Parts: sequence; structure tokens; C-alpha cells
Amino acid sequence: MRIDVLSIFPSYFDGLTLSLLGKAQATGIIDLRIRDLRDWTSDRHRTVDDTPYGGGAGMVMKPEPWGLALDDISEAAAATVAERPTIIFPSPAGEVFTQKTARDLATREHLIFGCGRYEGIDERVFEYAAERGDVRLISLGDYVLNGGEVATMAMIEAIGRLIPGVVGNPESLVEESHEDGLLEYPSYTKPASWRGRSVPDVLLSGNHAAIAAWRHEQQIERTRSRRPDLLDDTSPSS
Ligand SMILES: C[S@@+](CC[C@H](N)C(=O)[O-])C[C@H]1O[C@@H](n2cnc3c(N)ncnc32)[C@H](O)[C@@H]1O
Repeated sequence: MRIDVLSIFPSYFDGLTLSLLGKAQATGIIDLRIRDLRDWTSDRHRTVDDTPYGGGAGMVMKPEPWGLALDDISEAAAATVAERPTIIFPSPAGEVFTQKTARDLATREHLIFGCGRYEGIDERVFEYAAERGDVRLISLGDYVLNGGEVATMAMIEAIGRLIPGVVGNPESLVEESHEDGLLEYPSYTKPASWRGRSVPDVLLSGNHAAIAAWRHEQQIERTRSRRPDLLDDTSPSS
């Protein structure tokens, strides 16, 4: 998968060179390109923002650097990627990102993330981007961050680990929270007794059917107490 990220703070993404996503880049499973939006400005100050029409607090990101960057990236990628890009703008006013969104985006060949700052991006950029690719405005949750970088990193990590070959043991993906609409069961490792607390007997029994049944019960119980909203729809596709 090819992923291009547009940001005015490219060094935010240094963390993506570590661990499993770092390896996925080294082995060529993910081709991640972090771009500085200011490279598509033409003034001495490399300006990317301006005052809002209609007044109001804060600044708005100017459309032209975005237009030029999207032109260059989509044209360059067209030489190697057949599919139209999916262009994601992180936004607190977008659809909420879930495991289902991650699964869907993990099937795409080319993702472009546009990280907003200040009060956000001139609205016409989203319309223009729709001529270049499939546009999605996606929120990490119902709160406001300072910029799209942290949201983009979270999405790339959630999407990246679903790409075949990124996580060594694919079975570990199937058992995670949210994969079957429930939260994951509790996990324990050695020692069997630690500071007066014991591992549940069933996990030491060697009885695989009993362990599976206990884990499923724990998933339901934990989901009911922590996230009852998820029990409204526990279908695997939710
Ligand atoms: C300060 S926010 C702008 C918020 C905008 N004025 C609003 O009220 O919808 C700046 C940028 O942070 C990012 N951002 C903030 N909260 C986010 C969230 N919950 N999910 C995804 N991106 C977010 C977006 O890229 C946004 O353009």
C-alpha cells in the first residue's frame, strides 16, 4: 500500500519508522511518504494560512498549497498505482473512525492523508480533492485535537496492522477487541500467582473448550459493563 501524508509538521511521523510499521516499510509492504505542505507554497514565509472570510477567531488553511500538493501527489502516484486514491482529511466533524473503517481502508492501494491545523482547511479543498480521489472526512472521536497529525498516526497504525504481512501472527488480529463487536477477554502471563493474585483456574486447566467458553463469557461481561453501546449490534461486520 502507498500512503502519502501532507502536514506542516512532518517530524510528528518519525514514530512510524519504529516497530511493526517500520519493518513493513523496510520490507516494502507499506510505502509511506511524509510530505511538508509548505513545499507547495511560493512566498518567502511559506504561508499556509490566512484570516477567515466572515470573521471569527483563528486562521484557516489556504486552498492553493493543498491544490498543488494533491495535483503533484495524485499525478505522480498514477504512474505506479492503478486505483484512484482515497483522500482522508482527519476532522472532528467527520464520520467516526472504527475498526470497520480500518478494515475497509486496509484494502485500498493508495491513501492520502491531509492534516489540518488552525481552524481547519478551506472547504473548497474537499470539493477539489473529490475530483482527484474518494474523499473521506474522518474523526478520531468526539473531542478536538490541535491538528490532524495524531489522528493520522492513529489511523495509519490501525490500518497498517491489518495489511497482510505486517503483524507476524495473523491469528492475533482475529481475537482483538472490536473484531467481533466485543471487547477482548482478560489476558494473563507467568507467574500463576503474583502478589497474592492468582490466574483464573480455568486458564491452567488445559481444557481448550472450557477456556474458549470462559473467554467468551468474559468478553460479553466486560463489554456489558464497559461498553454497553456495542451490544446493540454484535454482528462481525459492525
Ligand atoms: C483545532 S482543529 C479544527 C477544528 C474545527 N475548527 C472544528 O471545530 O471542527 C485542527 C485540525 O485538527 C484535526 N482534528 C481535530 N480534532 C480531530 C478529531 N477529533 N479527529 C480527527 N482530526 C481532528 C483536524 O485535522 C482539524 O482540521
